[in-house]
Amino acid sequence: MKNLLKSTRVLNNGVEIPIIGLGTYRMENEQQAVDSIKYALEIGYRHIDTAEYYQNHKHIAKAIKESKVPREEIFITSKIWNDYHDYDQTIAHFEQILEELETDYLDLCLVHWPTPKALSCYQALQDLYNAGKVRAIGVSNFTVTDLEAFLPQVNIKPVMNQIELNPSVPRNDVVDFCNEHNIAVTSWQTIMKGQVGDFELIQQLAKKYDVSPAQIALKWALQRNVIIIPKSVTPSRIFENQDLDKFELTTEEISKINTMTKDLNLNYEPVDPFRK
Ligand SMILES: NC(=O)c1ccc[n+]([C@@H]2O[C@H](COP(=O)([O-])OP(=O)(O)OC[C@H]3O[C@@H](n4cnc5c(N)ncnc54)[C@H](OP(=O)(O)O)[C@@H]3O)[C@@H](O)[C@H]2O)c1
Repeated sequence: MKNLLKSTRVLNNGVEIPIIGLGTYRMENEQQAVDSIKYALEIGYRHIDTAEYYQNHKHIAKAIKESKVPREEIFITSKIWNDYHDYDQTIAHFEQILEELETDYLDLCLVHWPTPKALSCYQALQDLYNAGKVRAIGVSNFTVTDLEAFLPQVNIKPVMNQIELNPSVPRNDVVDFCNEHNIAVTSWQTIMKGQVGDFELIQQLAKKYDVSPAQIALKWALQRNVIIIPKSVTPSRIFENQDLDKFELTTEEISKINTMTKDLNLNYEPVDPFRK
């Protein structure tokens, strides 16, 4: 069986990213975060998604140190929070992220949301990229309208757009646009905090393939060429969320999920470009 934790995707600047990562939003409790991240590293996760906003960089540093997995084997993404999108603030906050993570480089740094100052944040990231402090740069929560306004104004194409994407909000327009422009998509809240099993179609598919509803949602995203970063502090779920190689959804099932009734929408709101 293929170990999907070892599968990578080549980003538009040639850097490779593991297609499954561990999300860490709401892992502020130090012991819980350290234990969860260490367990994930032990079973082979090599991609950790964090952000200034999650306040857990120090826990991640501790977990990596205790795991004894070499830093260079782990792909770390962090994000510059919305309040720090001035050029100088981004540079200062980036340095703080490195300090907290006890590393001298990031694998990927993202503009967390398309704020009115997203461009100056990205200009700072471009300079950090050119200085060799970050291996790849990108954006998060950008709609097609945001990207259309943003791309002509930047020198380095973002490698990534990290967005909310799940059976409730399949985001076909953003996925198509990013595929056309060779920008990778990563999905957050793919399993809708566990609620994805409330959809009848997802339940039926889970029964058919003898897997969990979370696994159906995660596999659906992967089969759409979308990178996944499910978060869990529960070892059995951390395992389950990467154990996705034992079944394949059919093309018809993928389009059924893409077009099913969306009656469970947790966060998603359509937005204007560069909103506050
Ligand atoms: N760019 C952005 O703006 C943005 C926004 C939000 C999140 N993110 C990133 O994306 C990651 C994933 O998103 P998310 O954490 O919001 O949501 P998620 O991964 O869809 O869901 C996490 C929740 O689902 C539970 N869970 C995990 N695996 C499960 C399973 N197999 N079955 C049932 N329940 C399960 C977890 O509980 P336990 O932990 O108790 O097991 C947790 O409460 C975040 O951690 C973060 O790294 C990015």
